[in-house]
Amino acid sequence: MSEPLDLAAFPNDFLWGTATAAYQIEGAVAEDGRAPSIWDTFSHTPGKVDNGDTGDVACDHYHRWREDFDLLKQLGTNAYRFSVAWPRIIPGGDGQVNAKGLDFYDRLTDALLADGITPMVTLYHWDLPQALQDRGGWPARETALAFGEYASVVAERLGDRVKHWTPLNEPLCSAWIGHLEGRMAPGLADLNAAVPASYHLLLGHGLATQAIRAAVPDAEVGIVLNLAQVEPATDRPEDIAAARRMDGHSNRWWLDPVHGRGFPEDMVEVYGVELPEQPGDLDTIAAPLDWLGLNYYFPSAIADHPAGPAPYADAVRRLGVPRTGMDWEVDANGIESLLLRLTSEYGARKLYITENGSAYPDVVRPDGTVDDPEREQYLVDHLAACARAVRKGAPLAGYFAWSLLDNFEWAYGYDKRFGLVHVDYQTQVRTIKGSGHRYADIVRRHGARVRRAA
Ligand code: IFM
Repeated sequence: MSEPLDLAAFPNDFLWGTATAAYQIEGAVAEDGRAPSIWDTFSHTPGKVDNGDTGDVACDHYHRWREDFDLLKQLGTNAYRFSVAWPRIIPGGDGQVNAKGLDFYDRLTDALLADGITPMVTLYHWDLPQALQDRGGWPARETALAFGEYASVVAERLGDRVKHWTPLNEPLCSAWIGHLEGRMAPGLADLNAAVPASYHLLLGHGLATQAIRAAVPDAEVGIVLNLAQVEPATDRPEDIAAARRMDGHSNRWWLDPVHGRGFPEDMVEVYGVELPEQPGDLDTIAAPLDWLGLNYYFPSAIADHPAGPAPYADAVRRLGVPRTGMDWEVDANGIESLLLRLTSEYGARKLYITENGSAYPDVVRPDGTVDDPEREQYLVDHLAACARAVRKGAPLAGYFAWSLLDNFEWAYGYDKRFGLVHVDYQTQVRTIKGSGHRYADIVRRHGARVRRAA
């Protein structure tokens, strides 16, 4: 396997991490005071998730986290991004705090730090307490206010030890896939719900950022966005305009307001839905950020799609392009382009790749190993593209592979495996895949370079 990887490009204090999310790995959905989230409801609704899979048990990380943290040590990574489950901390969405929920993340934090691993905490990776959904969910302003309170509770408890925070993970998925396309919880397909949901997610981000900063003066707060590398499918003017709309929908709608540029006017017009704006909101949303987190998976060629949902544009299938098990195109150039765009267009001062990875149908071989050369190549190629971006000026400070473990891949259930570590869901046996060993080797070699240079 080729490895055109310029390790010297990465700074000495580079964070080498893996990422996970609570609902995808924890299981234990009814333990120690946790209440249902919208994903419990959605996954238990027949027909919503492949094979009827749910997160009820998942990787049983709630009970097996020590074993999973041993894997982090074996990989030699120095950072770990995990999410806190809101329905464990404030089961009713607002009000009463559940001490046992906080205790769990407290233990995780201490264990990571004891192993010299920097924790990065995500406060919302899609598991909204069902109680809040019942009162209107993200389309309602009350949810953003409750999110700010929840952020304050978690930051006050963990903030003496956790310095890296992101309120949100991929608000695009919560807003557009959850409220417009209906493929994720809460499963709505209504533009009039989706646009206010997107607005209140960003307002919640701003309120949570304020809350974290109040509790943790030396916190580094960012936002994690799954940005899209889009290009027009053809040079027809309709497709060029469609690609611009998709860029607005996937990228500018999120980036512009958090950078104090307001919501892009062209997209406000495309959606035709009035924003639920109140005085001061835009300033709250634009709370200064210490870093931007990019989740990158694949690029898309976009064509006009007037009969579809907003933004009336859709990806076309390019022929002859390699694809992952998700049917996503493989092209590492997109990660480089997006890192450079965030640097030049948005003046990013610090960037993280907060997720990047690929799903393939891995199998455990008779000798107990898992060989995944395609994922290995994907990893190396994307790291090489990151290194090129750094050489061209992108201030990249870390890379978090998605994911540490195979896990509950939302509406696709357990069939899609993204882990550097294979999970046998019958036995809960973990096996580091070839890609995991490759990542460990890269991390080790970067560390050796740093030590030699010291
Ligand atoms: O599994 C998800 C994760 O929860 C959010 N980002 C994309 C991943 C792969 O689909």
